[in-house]
Amino acid sequence: MKILVTGVAGFIGFHVAKKLIDDNIEVIGIDNINDYYPMTLKFDRLKELGIQPDFIRYNNKVKSETMKSFTFLRLDITDESHLLNLFNREKFDIVIHLAAQAGVRYSLDNPKAYIKSNIEGFNNILEACRNFPVKHLVYASSSSVYGMNKEQPFSVKHKVDSPVSLYAATKKSNELMAHSYSYLYNIPTTGLRFFTVYGPWGRPDMAPMLFAKSIIEGKPIKVFNNGNLERDFTYIDDIITGITKIMSLPPCEKIPYRILNIGNSKPVKLGEFINEIEEALGEKAIKEMYPMQDGDVYSTFADVSELQQLTNYKPTIALKEGITKFIKWYTAYFN
Ligand SMILES: NC(=O)c1ccc[n+]([C@@H]2O[C@H](COP(=O)([O-])OP(=O)(O)OC[C@H]3O[C@@H](n4cnc5c(N)ncnc54)[C@H](O)[C@@H]3O)[C@@H](O)[C@H]2O)c1
Repeated sequence: MKILVTGVAGFIGFHVAKKLIDDNIEVIGIDNINDYYPMTLKFDRLKELGIQPDFIRYNNKVKSETMKSFTFLRLDITDESHLLNLFNREKFDIVIHLAAQAGVRYSLDNPKAYIKSNIEGFNNILEACRNFPVKHLVYASSSSVYGMNKEQPFSVKHKVDSPVSLYAATKKSNELMAHSYSYLYNIPTTGLRFFTVYGPWGRPDMAPMLFAKSIIEGKPIKVFNNGNLERDFTYIDDIITGITKIMSLPPCEKIPYRILNIGNSKPVKLGEFINEIEEALGEKAIKEMYPMQDGDVYSTFADVSELQQLTNYKPTIALKEGITKFIKWYTAYFN
């Protein structure tokens, strides 16, 4: 079996690839290694996978020095011709598509980056799967598609027509685009709505990393909406388990299309989340209160019953354990 992981130098892509390689599956990973956040972190993730940054050239295969079933290619998913060539050459069985312009807040100032990678890039992935058929395309959607929805827990049965950021709108668009390709070309697709993922090798633009950094440096942390926010924080290992379980179960309905939530199903108040980080670090945060931010939602809470039915998915890492593991990695990495 050969699997393509896009966004492999990113937080979730790195962990998925590592798990698949550990399971002796052949993985080709691509990423454009953009500078949305420090590229050093992306290169360091790749180093963990045995890829030496010095050998990376655009659209050139680099074999892992330590993991024989892994190959990396620096490639932009908006580069259609090279992407199609890659699919033509490699004949992937499964595609796990995670490359995207992530982040809600950045989308307020940089809308074009989202249209380019998340719409144009996603369309290229669909076209590649249409021209060089795969058994299953699994792609990242987001809990942000629930936007202004009030009814909780968020269910995939709910209508999601009121995104509050362009990021969310691109993710919802991906789901619609996937539906049309599943319908027209019989491409089995599963869209996974991830709920706030955290853990080792995480993203520097997200709360866990921002909070840990500021607390360690004795700087104030920004607490939005006076801390009156709730997030269904989901530990990375639970996300990876969900992805690897579902990838082998392509939808086989008449239109082979599905959307699933993947989250911890235990929303946590922001204050409690900060307390756990303080405890793990043994230091108190200096909190600066800010109003609600544009693009943000108040609360997220995943109903994962569909994923559970299909795969027996059950999140296993509670917040305290997850934060402890995250802080352990954070302090070791930044030391
Ligand atoms: N982390 C979360 O909590 C979360 C929540 C919901 C959805 N998601 C989605 O999951 C996916 C992975 O997120 P992540 O947290 O690992 O983000 P990330 O930013 O760490 O990883 C994304 C990777 O994609 C790469 N990339 C971006 N545009 C590209 C392009 N045009 N061509 C090739 N590579 C490109 C980036 O360089 C990056 O390494 C994204 O689609 C994101 O929107 C993440």
